[in-house]
Amino acid sequence: MPATHPSAVVESDSIGAGASIGEFAVIRAGAAIGDGVTVHPHVVIEPGVEIGAGTEVLPGAYLGRRPRAVGAIIREPTYRETVQIGGGCSIGVNAVIYYDVEIGEDTLVGDGASIREETKIGEGCVVGRYVAVDRDVQIGDGTKINFACSLVSKARLGKGVFLAQHVTTTNDNALGRQGWNDEQVAGPTIEDEAMIGSNATLLPGVTIGRAAVVGAGSVVTKDVAAGVTVVGVPARPL
Ligand SMILES: CC(C)(COP(=O)(O)OP(=O)(O)OC[C@H]1O[C@@H](n2cnc3c(N)ncnc32)[C@H](O)[C@@H]1OP(=O)(O)O)[C@@H](O)C(=O)NCCC(=O)NCCS
Repeated sequence: MPATHPSAVVESDSIGAGASIGEFAVIRAGAAIGDGVTVHPHVVIEPGVEIGAGTEVLPGAYLGRRPRAVGAIIREPTYRETVQIGGGCSIGVNAVIYYDVEIGEDTLVGDGASIREETKIGEGCVVGRYVAVDRDVQIGDGTKINFACSLVSKARLGKGVFLAQHVTTTNDNALGRQGWNDEQVAGPTIEDEAMIGSNATLLPGVTIGRAAVVGAGSVVTKDVAAGVTVVGVPARPL
């Protein structure tokens, strides 16, 4: 039987054995909570969210946020009303996970991280504190993304990639002037085992080859070949 605090609102009938649900948590009908999951106080879990066995969801996290097209947002969001979080994960304090996100087993999502729709994150990853993952991003197994990185829409990261803190990615050389144009917008591709130093900026559409290194503070304007180290503004091979 789950241990549910009396102040929690649990509408779902799919709560696994040994799950624990803290004060003022809300679990909507249609959410599925696996065995041994810990849902801390003030977590909100929307319908269609599935959480694998043993995962811990820390206080204030919001799982199943619906993207909204209001204000100056020009693109109508498209998304499935599901979230899948594998077993053994840790979802940080006040993390926000939108609908249409898949996260593999044993992945850590840090405090305050935000992950938007149409995004897939592999197993054994770290998405660090205050990392912002935009819509339509793919992150391979074992990839580590440190504090406050920004992954733009259409970024593609392979396996075992390392992003130091404050790495910024971009996808639009028109800087929004031409609205959203799928043909024109291109995120970076970062191949397996590449390493990106702190505060580097990757310009739209660049490919960082397998096991390449980008020095701290570099601005990458062109593709970087596999195994090559680049530094500076603009980044050049060392
Ligand atoms: C790119 C890097 C790995 C190169 O290290 P290295 O091979 O030991 O290089 P060196 O320190 O010998 O520097 C070689 C030259 O490149 C320059 N250089 C090194 N890193 C640079 C950078 N990020 N930007 C501009 N120039 C750089 C050095 O000034 C030196 O130039 P010089 O020969 O004219 O004196 C390293 O400098 C770097 O940027 N590391 C990233 C650190 C980081 O962000 N870690 C994240 C986890 S905390």
